[in-house]
Amino acid sequence: MARITASVYTSHVPAIGAAIDLGKTHEPYWQPLFKGYEFSKQWLKDNPPDVIFLVYNDHATAFSLEMIPTFAIGCAAQFQPADEGWGPRPVPVVQGHPELAAHITQSVIQDDFDLTIVNKMDVDHGLTVPLSLMCGQPEGPEPAWPCPVIPFAVNVVQYPVPSGRRCYELGKAIRKAVESFDENLNVQIWGTGGMTHQLQGPRAGLINREWDNAWLDKLIADPAAAAATPHIDYVREAGSEGIELVMWLIARGAMDDAQAGATAADTPTVRHRFYHVPASNTAVGHLILENPQP
Ligand code: DHB
Ligand code: FE
Repeated sequence: MARITASVYTSHVPAIGAAIDLGKTHEPYWQPLFKGYEFSKQWLKDNPPDVIFLVYNDHATAFSLEMIPTFAIGCAAQFQPADEGWGPRPVPVVQGHPELAAHITQSVIQDDFDLTIVNKMDVDHGLTVPLSLMCGQPEGPEPAWPCPVIPFAVNVVQYPVPSGRRCYELGKAIRKAVESFDENLNVQIWGTGGMTHQLQGPRAGLINREWDNAWLDKLIADPAAAAATPHIDYVREAGSEGIELVMWLIARGAMDDAQAGATAADTPTVRHRFYHVPASNTAVGHLILENPQP
């Protein structure tokens, strides 16, 4: 059967993609940020997944404000990097995993989560920047990401957005779906977006290190409590775009210790933790959690 072995959490910022694409990662502004991902790139090489289930948000790129699914699963064979105004990023086309995506869709919808099935979708910085941070820039004559990716888009752009609690429960349903797929696959689930940032209004540029780090502590040690964070707390404490953090709860809900009947033996190992300010207008948070070996 397929198995979720680890979860990865990381912020996304379009300027990070631009820094990589324009060869600026060693500039003094960016160097400390990319240093925080050195461990992670090696870890991913040492622990290569067969598939990445990548929870992210679209920024009115694939879905305009005319049509906004709350949860959308990418079932296509390929996803093109989107043109976000400056042309598409020079990164490989994302290869999907239609069989596993269709299986997860069937299982999760039967478990009462209404997903939107997406058979054609361009993917913006919300998905490509986390891939770049974890994989570096794919090179060679035929550059490719290291494995297939199932894009899972969550609406955190237009209110009402889903609650953290619902995201956490959805993570459990995704986990159950993966475990009922009849092929030995090593699956990682990534939760992306966040941490503190506000891009608009009088509080634009807001950063709240204390809140971010307390929330990371909670996500690690007491995820059900992190999932109970009300929307208004994200907006007040983490800024209007800090709401992207609910997506991390989907990944956390898929880990061993979040499942019914879990014991202390199911506690994940924190392989890596990193926090950095600033990256453009955003605080960057990053975690790698591994499930215990079976
Ligand atoms: C920034 C951050 C985001 O999450 C985003 O989607 C766009 C911009 C920023 O910090 O500039
Ligand atoms: Fe964003």
